[in-house]
Amino acid sequence: MDKKIFTVAIIGVGARGANAYGWQINDATDRFDIVALCDIRPERLDMFGKKFNVPEDARFTDENEFFKEKRADLLLIATQDKDHVRHCLKAFELGYDIMTEKPLTDKREECEALLAAQKKYGGKVLVCHVLRYAPLFLKAEEMIENGRIGKLVAINAIERVQFAHQSHSYVRGNWRNTNSSAPMILAKCCHDLDLLQWYAKSKCKSISSVGDLVYFKPENAPEGAAERCLDCQYERTCPYSAWFSYIHRFHYENQPQDTWPLNVLVNAPVTEEKLYEALKTGPYGRCVFHCDNNVVDHQFTQMTFENGVKASLLMTAFTQAGGRRITFHGTQGEIVLEEQSDSVVLKRFDDETETFNIAALEESGYGHGGGDIFIVRKLYEMLTGKSDVATTLEASVESHLMGICAEESRLKGGELVYIHK
Ligand SMILES: NC(=O)c1ccc[n+]([C@@H]2O[C@H](COP(=O)([O-])OP(=O)(O)OC[C@H]3O[C@@H](n4cnc5c(N)ncnc54)[C@H](O)[C@@H]3O)[C@@H](O)[C@H]2O)c1
Repeated sequence: MDKKIFTVAIIGVGARGANAYGWQINDATDRFDIVALCDIRPERLDMFGKKFNVPEDARFTDENEFFKEKRADLLLIATQDKDHVRHCLKAFELGYDIMTEKPLTDKREECEALLAAQKKYGGKVLVCHVLRYAPLFLKAEEMIENGRIGKLVAINAIERVQFAHQSHSYVRGNWRNTNSSAPMILAKCCHDLDLLQWYAKSKCKSISSVGDLVYFKPENAPEGAAERCLDCQYERTCPYSAWFSYIHRFHYENQPQDTWPLNVLVNAPVTEEKLYEALKTGPYGRCVFHCDNNVVDHQFTQMTFENGVKASLLMTAFTQAGGRRITFHGTQGEIVLEEQSDSVVLKRFDDETETFNIAALEESGYGHGGGDIFIVRKLYEMLTGKSDVATTLEASVESHLMGICAEESRLKGGELVYIHK
């Protein structure tokens, strides 16, 4: 029997919608067919419309036009944080199955509205908590599940955002200000919160959190610093300089030139001339001490799960390299998961230490340790009903509630907040 081919519409044809998932969906011609696109940026619509072979009359710049009717079996929602809930609700009403980017929302009542809409209209939902599909994170889960460290007692997680990633995304970029994006604990850490509840195998009972924006503020600018890096006397000495982050990276760091973060500043093909122009006039050329940012640069969060497992999470901008490190403490041993080396180390109390080098075992060297690839494969299984997905709307709402309550706690100076009041 021929394989069923699902038609796909994409709203938000940006880094995630086009580059992370769109290309894979487009290449999987035996499973998917992209038939409609919507993006407010006509140049992206035109570029990916041509690349994905979507007819001009099925490319929309106006979401109201796009949502006038159901245009495919599946809607991939990869717009910005504040759009997801609106787009999901419209998609439910039209009867789409949905693959949606995170965070879903930073409001409890909107979490409830999403669950109610799914109950009413019944669409399948896959939320893009991609790490749950990455071999590295699955390996740790398998060990815990198989009792390799006995009974899990505590988890200590650190999310090393990395200084240049912070300045790009959370100081100059799209996730810098809670007026237009979710707070850091959701925008960046909703993956971590989702992983923690998955590993704990329990709902979170209570949470407390402290964190601040301490560094990327005008009072920390070096004396005489200019508003824009290209005009600044510290252009070649400040580690956060836009010149280092983009021009130097373009020339000297063996960075494939059409990839993140350079392709966020300018459309491919990336050239030095286009980058200089973007730095002269656009948001990414601004001094990190003179931006309109308000999201935190470090945050500590503590959690107690209903089954008694405890967890702590540190998010920090101030690291030389990025990547998560999660240590699991059980009654019979420890597991250390290290994203940077793509390895999981099992330290049983009664045995030799074992190291699992995931990159050597699996096809994991892609976005999010392979998560971006494996989630698209999982999507097909969800649509055909062959298997359930782990990152359901219900599971995702639980971790969003953790983030919402953590932010509430942070704003109250670290007060303990119960998730289900
Ligand atoms: N799952 C993950 O690991 C992961 C990683 C990075 C980002 N994200 C999330 O994915 C989402 C998209 O991020 P991105 O980096 O692709 O951003 P992006 O800016 O590259 O892409 C968003 C696209 O949406 C378009 N858009 C904005 N408003 C629209 C509207 N009303 N109608 C139609 N199109 C609209 C923009 O023009 C842009 O092309 C964000 O919410 C982000 O937090 C998830």
